[in-house]
This record gives sequence, C-alpha cells and structure tokens, in this order.
Amino acid sequence: MRTIRKPEELTKALDKLRAQGKCVGFVPTMGALHEGHLSLVRAANRENDISVVSIFVNPTQFGPQEDYTKYPRVLGADRKKLRTVGADYLFCPSTAAMYPEGFNKPLKFAGAKWPRLARGLCAKFRPGHFQGVVTVVTKLLRITGACRLYLGAKDCQQAAVIGQLIRDLGLDVRVRVMPTVREKDGLAMSSRNRYLSADERRRALTISRTLFRLRRDLQRNAGTVAGLRARAFHELKKDMDRVQYLEVVDAETLHPARRRGRKRVALAACFVGKTRLIDNVIIPPSRIP
Ligand code: PAF
Repeated sequence: MRTIRKPEELTKALDKLRAQGKCVGFVPTMGALHEGHLSLVRAANRENDISVVSIFVNPTQFGPQEDYTKYPRVLGADRKKLRTVGADYLFCPSTAAMYPEGFNKPLKFAGAKWPRLARGLCAKFRPGHFQGVVTVVTKLLRITGACRLYLGAKDCQQAAVIGQLIRDLGLDVRVRVMPTVREKDGLAMSSRNRYLSADERRRALTISRTLFRLRRDLQRNAGTVAGLRARAFHELKKDMDRVQYLEVVDAETLHPARRRGRKRVALAACFVGKTRLIDNVIIPPSRIP
C-alpha cells in the first residue's frame, strides 16, 4: 500500500494508471477505521483495478460545538488495517492541502430536492454539515478521478445527498452504498462507539433494537405508521440522553413515508451521554394493501 499526502501527487499517480485503462474505486473516510469501513475497501478491491482510501478529518463538516478536535486520530492502527485488507493507496492530506488560504466553501444547496435532503433529519441538527461533506467529497473525487465511490448505508442521508450532488453535477462516478456492519449484538459500527462508557454502550443498544422492532411492527402492519413511530420514539427516549429524531421516510426522497408499496427507511439520531449516534434500517416494500 502506498501512502500519499499531497493531492497533486495522488492525482498524478492515478492519472498514470487510468491512462492504462485502470478503474479506481474510492473509499472516503475520516479514519478510526472499523469493520464497516473495511467492508467498503473489500468491495472497492473486488469491483475495481485500484482501491484508494482517504483518511481526512474534514473540519468543514463539523459544527462549532461538535467533536472535531477530539475525533479519534489513529493513523498507525488504520494503516495496519488497510494493509490487511489490501488497499492499494492511502491518501491522508493535511488540512492546508485540502483547504489552502483563501478557500471559500463554494457549494450551496439550491433547488426543489434539497430542502428535505439537506435541511431535514441530521441537517436540521447539524447546520452546514452536508455542505461540508459535499465540498470535501467533490474535492476528493476530483483528486482521485474515481469511477466508483463507496459509502456506508448507516449514513443514509449522506449517501442520498452525495447521490443527488453527483446527478446534479453530472459527475461520472457510480455510487455504491454498502450495508451497515453491526456488532454481534446489533449496535451499528461507528468510529464514535469508542467514546462510549460501559453503561452508555449498554444503553446504545436500544437504538438498533428499537429500529428492528419498529421494522417488524411496520411489516406486520401492527398499527399506523404514526402510532408505531410514536411508540418507538417513547421506547428510545427511555434509554437515550436525547433523541433528535426517529422517523420513517421514503428511502429515496427521505420524505416522511406513509405508503407501504415503496422502499422505506426507519432512522434515528440520539445522544448517549455526549456521543451522538445514528442508525437506520431498510423496510422493504410490502405487497399487503
Ligand atoms: O462518512 C464520513 O466519514 C465523512 O462524512 C466523509 C464521507 C469521509 C466525508 O468527510
């Protein structure tokens, strides 16, 4: 695995390979890698000639009260993991290389689709977050010239926003959203899980449990969507320090979903102690009227 820090050096190396007809699969990360990230790298290895992983804790996607400074930075351990799964390139740029003097966040959300995608759910509680995400992902796509981009389904709103951005800008890259990887007991893997104390780790389990139960109840048609959602919200609240949202939405538009004939997703964001965790489960379309 080759580690590169300078954007222009990575572009040059990958340009050479692309000139030989090779296709680049790209996995953007902020490091503190877990099995979820590694599953993306394995998919990138399988489906492309070259895999590139970036590790960059992107300041523009964190709010002033968020965990940018304390976000785990464990490059040595991450490199070992990436070598084990066989990544070809690791790109870990400095902040100055990604955001040189005079940088001015250029991307703004405009148009009918954005209000829900980029202002609802997580965006409502993290203003500016998705603007920072699409800014860095667009820059990284330009630097890597990837033909496939690998994202985790746990960040389902992020995947929807990036997918929309790629369509809007007509970028020539295919988005591959890979399934959430869970601990044995069901907790969705997250770099932020390492912040949890033993008691918080125990309580965090309520998130996936509640979402799985909600999915089962929706599939069994055990009540109205509003009623089942309210009950799940109540359950979740008992173990969480704060619940930001728990919703059932259309998997594509992220608009509140009442219709059973479309693929839906139940998703939640909560605080356990000071740690903000998100999770979601897909609810396949049902043929029961
Ligand atoms: O999902 C993440 O870790 C980040 O939002 C991403 C996509 C690497 C952009 O910084």
